Amino acid sequence: MILVTGAAGFIGANFVLDWLAQSDEPVVNLDKLTYAGNLQSLASLQGDPRHQFVHGDIGDRTLIDRLLSEHQPRAIVNFAAESHVDRSIHGPEDFIQTNVVGTFHLLESVRAYWSGLDETAKAAFRFLHVSTDEVYGTLGATDPAFTENNPYEPNSPYSASKAASDHLVRAYHHTYGLPVLTTNCSNNYGPYHFPEKLIPLMIVNALAGKPLPVYGDGMQIRDWLFVKDHCSAIRRVLEAGTPGETYNVGGWNEKPNIEIVRTVCALLDEMSPRADGKGYAEQVTYVKDRPGHDRRYAIDATKIHRELGWKPAETFETGIRKTVRWYLDNQAWVQQVQSGEYRQWIDQQYGTKA
Ligand code: NAD
Ligand code: TYD
Repeated sequence: MILVTGAAGFIGANFVLDWLAQSDEPVVNLDKLTYAGNLQSLASLQGDPRHQFVHGDIGDRTLIDRLLSEHQPRAIVNFAAESHVDRSIHGPEDFIQTNVVGTFHLLESVRAYWSGLDETAKAAFRFLHVSTDEVYGTLGATDPAFTENNPYEPNSPYSASKAASDHLVRAYHHTYGLPVLTTNCSNNYGPYHFPEKLIPLMIVNALAGKPLPVYGDGMQIRDWLFVKDHCSAIRRVLEAGTPGETYNVGGWNEKPNIEIVRTVCALLDEMSPRADGKGYAEQVTYVKDRPGHDRRYAIDATKIHRELGWKPAETFETGIRKTVRWYLDNQAWVQQVQSGEYRQWIDQQYGTKA
């Protein structure tokens, strides 16, 4: 079996759903259920003996030690993290606690477990750490895309905490020989994405008749990847990646934020037009920029393509259409995650603007 951490979150939930759609290998899902963790995303697995949920923290050594010795996983996929840049600006401490200290404790438990395995199990074991392209910092308009050899230059408390965790993972390979793999992926979008991030926030606000808050001039560039393509990349790296190596994962799809927002508006105009006949783009509102906002991210995903044969299945056009459709068809999920805590965040971040 495999242990997946943070699998009640956006990417982790998609990963588990895809994993169990393709294999019968059981998954133990360890998640702290922060505001971003939502078991509703895994409701279709209720009663499925291949999925076991455990409520807990990656930093809880006693719990992790017990889980490892009880389940004897052949691999661990570590999604658990605080993941929202804006929240890291308002309150970095949780990011240090989970992404740095939590990852450290998890690695310590895993090292102890792995050291006790027999030689065959030891060689086959993998610890896959899921990370972000944001560790590389920001690019100028004409700079080449990030490769695995770019230096780490994180600029936000979020990216700095992820960079620190990547370094720890790397060190556990070099120092102790732990068979680790790290993936650095660009911005994901798709089903079950918490509506504090750009794409789901725009969909949810548009439908609610609220402003669509675009930071600064809206010309910041991100590379966007459909979440299921990220999941397939992780499966491929887990299966065939070389321990100690890192793999950049991206969609070859750079777009400025304002273009993303306009695309979402156009799809909503087509699939769920406003009652007054006007376009959703009328709701776009430019707001104060994010402090230290990275201007551009771009991923060079040549290595994972060349060495492991992975490439994305979706284009941005097909992926964003599926995403908008999913939000229209899953309003109950959206309402369920918009709890009191969600409202509190929206008020703090946007005041009356959203
Ligand atoms: P998310 O915020 O939606 O989910 C994170 C999950 O981790 C939640 O279920 C939360 O409850 C859980 N969690 C948080 N702290 C925990 C702890 N201490 N112990 C156990 N569980 C804990 O995040 P996501 O967007 O699904 O991202 C998952 C991973 O992928 C993160 O490591 C993130 O850095 C990375 N990543 C995300 C993106 C993206 O675009 N979303 C891109 C590249 C990499
Ligand atoms: P986000 O989804 O938070 O991901 P990240 O900061 O990890 O890239 O934001 C994506 C981009 O969209 C980023 O440049 C910030 C911008 N953005 C807005 O313009 N308005 C918003 O309300 C949000 C949440 C993000």
